[in-house]
Amino acid sequence: MLRVSGLSRSFGGVHAVRKVDLALGEGETIGVIGPNGAGKTTLFNLLSGHERPDAGQVMFLGQDITGLPPERLAALGLARTFQHGRVFGNLSVMDNVLVGATPRLRRVRPAVPFVGPLLELILAMVRPAGVREEERALRAEVEQLLAMFGDRLAPRLTHRAYSLSYANRRRLEIARALALHPRLLLLDEPAAGMNETETEELQEILLTLKARGQTMLLIEHKLELVMRLCDRVVVMDDGAVIAAGLPEEVRQDPAVIAAYLGHSATGGKPALVEVVL
Ligand SMILES: Nc1ncnc2c1ncn2[C@@H]1O[C@H](COP(=O)(O)OP(=O)(O)OP(=O)(O)O)[C@@H](O)[C@H]1O
Ligand SMILES: [Mg+2]
Repeated sequence: MLRVSGLSRSFGGVHAVRKVDLALGEGETIGVIGPNGAGKTTLFNLLSGHERPDAGQVMFLGQDITGLPPERLAALGLARTFQHGRVFGNLSVMDNVLVGATPRLRRVRPAVPFVGPLLELILAMVRPAGVREEERALRAEVEQLLAMFGDRLAPRLTHRAYSLSYANRRRLEIARALALHPRLLLLDEPAAGMNETETEELQEILLTLKARGQTMLLIEHKLELVMRLCDRVVVMDDGAVIAAGLPEEVRQDPAVIAAYLGHSATGGKPALVEVVL
């Protein structure tokens, strides 16, 4: 589904991502781990079109998507969440999630060249029966989607996002990404800042998504979550992939241990590693 080859991006003298190769199959969940500043978020930004690579190629569903803008990628079925939560504070929970479904709209966005945006504006204002029906169906779908989060979001449908708790804003972002019906879902530290109960709850949700066949790339520092959820793990350090494999293999890789301990050489302290991994 996704094949990344030789992907690189520098900021001034900082090589944030260096020649990264990565392959992800349909239905697979891959964890991307590594110390702070390893280049994980930059890798996601390159995949989701928020940054353009200096070199390398990204193939998605057999198509070269290198350097395409986020809206084109969303239309192809690529959704993401952000490390530092980006919901629309002044929109309701319902509207935040509906925004995620925008690329799926058909009746209000007829694929007409040139005059398409103008037509969309007119249809949105006139709201003929077909448009109203499409919106009604989507609203019902959003309510169903939110049920996945128990009573965390469903009772707050009309609340504006800025009034939500931190954890709820993070859940809302996941719901918005899911509203796209993504072929590939990129999650950047979805459990960051969540307490133990909230993290476990999130883990259950992600396991449910995985069981439904959702393909996912997950950046996460909470390694227990990564080990439970991921089929394979890719480890980055200093912009490069330093190890990749099954969670169990990666856990014992000396290069990974060294990176996490901040050692340049291997042979760190195994006792400490148990704490980290
Ligand atoms: N827009 C930017 N301009 C300049 N430097 C950047 C930019 N984005 C990232 N960097 C640098 O690139 C490196 C990789 O950053 P990145 O955010 O990708 O790391 P990360 O692995 O996601 O770290 P963390 O675990 O802390 O989120 C860092 O040195 C960072 O300072
Ligand atoms: Mg990051």
